[in-house]
Amino acid sequence: MIQLAEKLGSRQATAAVIGLGYVGLPLAMEVAKAGFNVIGIDVDQNKINALKQSKSYILDVPESTLTTQIKSGRFTATADFSALAKADTVSICVPTPLSKSRDPDVSFILSATEQIRKYLHAGQLIVLESTTYPGTTDELIVPELENSGLKVGKDFFLAFSPERIDPGNTSFNTRNTPKIVGGITAQCTEIARLFYSQFIERVIPVSSSKCAEMVKLLENTFRSVNIGMVNELAQMCDLLGVDVYEVIDAAATKPFGFSAFYPGPGLGGHCIPIDPHYLAWKLKALNFQARFIGLAAEINGMMPTFVANLVADGLNRNSKSIRGSRIMVLGVAYKKNVSDCRESPALDVMRILSDKGAILSYNDPFVPSLRFGGNVLKSSVFTPTEIGQYDCVIILTDHTAYDFRQIVGAAKLVVDTRNSTKELHEFKDRIIKLGAGNNVRSAPDHVDEHVLSNGELSTH
Ligand SMILES: NC(=O)c1ccc[n+]([C@@H]2O[C@H](COP(=O)([O-])OP(=O)(O)OC[C@H]3O[C@@H](n4cnc5c(N)ncnc54)[C@H](O)[C@@H]3O)[C@@H](O)[C@H]2O)c1
Repeated sequence: MIQLAEKLGSRQATAAVIGLGYVGLPLAMEVAKAGFNVIGIDVDQNKINALKQSKSYILDVPESTLTTQIKSGRFTATADFSALAKADTVSICVPTPLSKSRDPDVSFILSATEQIRKYLHAGQLIVLESTTYPGTTDELIVPELENSGLKVGKDFFLAFSPERIDPGNTSFNTRNTPKIVGGITAQCTEIARLFYSQFIERVIPVSSSKCAEMVKLLENTFRSVNIGMVNELAQMCDLLGVDVYEVIDAAATKPFGFSAFYPGPGLGGHCIPIDPHYLAWKLKALNFQARFIGLAAEINGMMPTFVANLVADGLNRNSKSIRGSRIMVLGVAYKKNVSDCRESPALDVMRILSDKGAILSYNDPFVPSLRFGGNVLKSSVFTPTEIGQYDCVIILTDHTAYDFRQIVGAAKLVVDTRNSTKELHEFKDRIIKLGAGNNVRSAPDHVDEHVLSNGELSTH
């Protein structure tokens, strides 16, 4: 341990990162910037080829950073796992999706661990960063690595440290987002803390890997449940004739005890729609029903249909149906200013509308082409005149590049799911905003009559 601690403290260590995606590549860059030698490993040869040519496929990693780290020799990319033989630390950043039956798919973690076991040596630190269910690190990784004959906490060190990166966030990045670490033993925690504190401003140790795994799931379940709650509130406001955004913003003036969450067309990305299911799955095996997780997933999962209904309502106002209408979707990435379309609710909204016979086009400055319904669609460039030719424009992702005043000014009908038209009062008649009183429902008439047993009506 002393030797590894010295190498980490003096930044003489070689760090490997397995999985060079949204999480792994920014992490690898940060470690290299701190002065470590970094070996990036990925099974995707296209990514390795791109990196070798200093081409970045992650918006948050500028090509200039990549070029500097490659030129200095501090970062190399490879698909060859034998490079792990030289590594003092190994960070695992592989995907953790759901299977077709919506159960955790930990096969990527297992396959990365198998490779690590082949090259495991005394004095190595292994850290799992992929989001997963509580217990993964000690139940799956420890036995596999100990098959090598080496003992955790004695010969090698193992910890879980959840990645908290928020792609597209210009204020918080790998370096200034506090990092949680929980090891299998106290020594594992300490050595992992020492590693991360070389390139992350604040590192918070917790008592176990299971606790660290649970921290990440609390964070993502918290978001999923709160988004589910405001999505339901948006539906309530739609019926009541109140603008949900005005309600939330006014409530957010309370300086304590309230956190603002906003409604939208549904959940997207690789984290919030997926991670809570990892927790619910684990609890199911213990005969415990995670009810908030289930309810939030149900409400959030209904939002694309809710949006499609708003489109139908808007077209109905103009005596049109979805079938045969030309509809322009603005933004298909799952959130603002990113290119990631994984689990994007835009795809669900598009599928519902396409099934009902809409003629769809889309625009997204970050997504030049999109695989949809067995075809490849291309992002349509549009001018104000062209926007006016669509029967409906749906704002699904509020990328900063969009000039909403110009778009709405030219459009016949706009369905706004992101409050992007907040200021555009002069165009109010052509805008349908999610959660703003589009379906005000009057209470059913109350007839104060009872049917008597002889069939006659008695009125009180
Ligand atoms: N994207 C986010 O915003 C985010 C934030 C926090 C945590 N996470 C978690 O981090 C993990 C990684 O997510 P991501 O978004 O970076 O995924 P990603 O798909 O962008 O990247 C994963 C990379 O791992 C590679 N890979 C797959 N199997 C491999 C293997 N056996 N060996 C080597 N490389 C392999 C893939 O080719 C890919 O390049 C997931 O568990 C995710 O839940 C993601």
